[in-house]
Amino acid sequence: MFHPFIMAGIYIHIPFCRTLCAYCDFYHVIAPQDVQPFVNALLKEAELRKEYTGSQNISTIYIGGGTPSVLPAAMLKIILNRIFRLYNVANDCEITVEINPDDVTREYLEQLKETQVNRISIGIQSWRDQDLKFMNRRHTSSQAAKALEDIFSAGYENVTIDLIYGIPGMTSSAWLSNLDFSFRFDIRHLSAYHLTIEPGTLFGKMKEKGLLSEIDEEESNLQFNLLVEKASEAGFIHYEISNFGKPGFFSIHNSNYWKQVNYLGLGPSAHSFNGYSRQWNVRDVKKYIKALESGNLMFEMEELSKRTRFNEYLMTSLRTMWGIDLDYVEEMFDKEGYDYIVNLSGKLIDYGLMRQDKKTLVLTNQGQMISDNIISELMLPGDD
Ligand SMILES: C[S@@+](CC[C@H](N)C(=O)[O-])C[C@H]1O[C@@H](n2cnc3c(N)ncnc32)[C@H](O)[C@@H]1O
Ligand code: SF4
Repeated sequence: MFHPFIMAGIYIHIPFCRTLCAYCDFYHVIAPQDVQPFVNALLKEAELRKEYTGSQNISTIYIGGGTPSVLPAAMLKIILNRIFRLYNVANDCEITVEINPDDVTREYLEQLKETQVNRISIGIQSWRDQDLKFMNRRHTSSQAAKALEDIFSAGYENVTIDLIYGIPGMTSSAWLSNLDFSFRFDIRHLSAYHLTIEPGTLFGKMKEKGLLSEIDEEESNLQFNLLVEKASEAGFIHYEISNFGKPGFFSIHNSNYWKQVNYLGLGPSAHSFNGYSRQWNVRDVKKYIKALESGNLMFEMEELSKRTRFNEYLMTSLRTMWGIDLDYVEEMFDKEGYDYIVNLSGKLIDYGLMRQDKKTLVLTNQGQMISDNIISELMLPGDD
């Protein structure tokens, strides 16, 4: 049984990118002139929000984007120093920063070593130049390999890479080669996402015009199975649908999201969660800066009904190897929530899509392939 309320995480969204990748729907802008005013606004927001986590111990800080490595590492240091001064940061706090391969230089890494960052997430996406070009990435695969080697040489041990599979034109043998090549490095963690074609992105527009079609379901499943099999052979534990870690190297920050631990989100578009409500900052860096320049926060908030909290718990926990904790369900959602889930899971267990381990319900490999369908099947219907 975990205790969600004694610690919290901080997510910091750095919204800047140098160019736009064809698939990406994360909030990002190309606006180098806004970097310094943004950092000033972020420092101000950190001050104004410190009551959100109160006396809770900050066990993780995640600097994501956009592209955090657009900022000089010295700026990251200023941001982190401010967070350390304002918040109750734990001594063993996991501090991750996302880095793009084309930003990795010796000078950057030297400066980064001067900060409190102790975990690096690098967006490799694919080791094949044709995929990188197709997705409008700024780097080649040999640049990415050099960046990864330089990160290890700089002394970082807790390193994770991002890969994307299910890319149109990528066969399963190409995906297999991508995996094999990744495991030649001493990475401790891998996030591998199936490409999703998001409306409004370049790929979304191409799809609308009939210029791009998604790979078929059979090929998707094949690539997912290869991922699970090869990662396990390479010593990684599959602890969440898209995440694989060596023992001791799971992402604590992301695991906490999935375990309903509180978090504070700083920066435009960042979300915050305190167990009972969710807040999300304005998704516009100029408005964000303007509001903070006049000492105001700009966010929307939703109080989460019991039904929404129940559905969010199902959605996140079922994607993990820890699954649904039935004791937690009973404690948080009463006997009614407990009975509901136990009744519905029976059928899924019979179909081999789910299994019960003592007081937890977990998706089988077969269930993971259709996790989205299972989760929407289980969600409590209705309006609040
Ligand atoms: C915040 S994003 C990017 C971080 C960093 N700027 C980079 O480019 O590597 C985090 C990860 O989400 C994944 N991602 C983003 N959009 C995706 C999509 N539409 N389909 C699959 N994976 C996606 C990519 O692997 C990406 O590295
Ligand atoms: S994948 Fe990374 S670099 Fe590319 S647009 Fe998204 S945030 Fe920016």
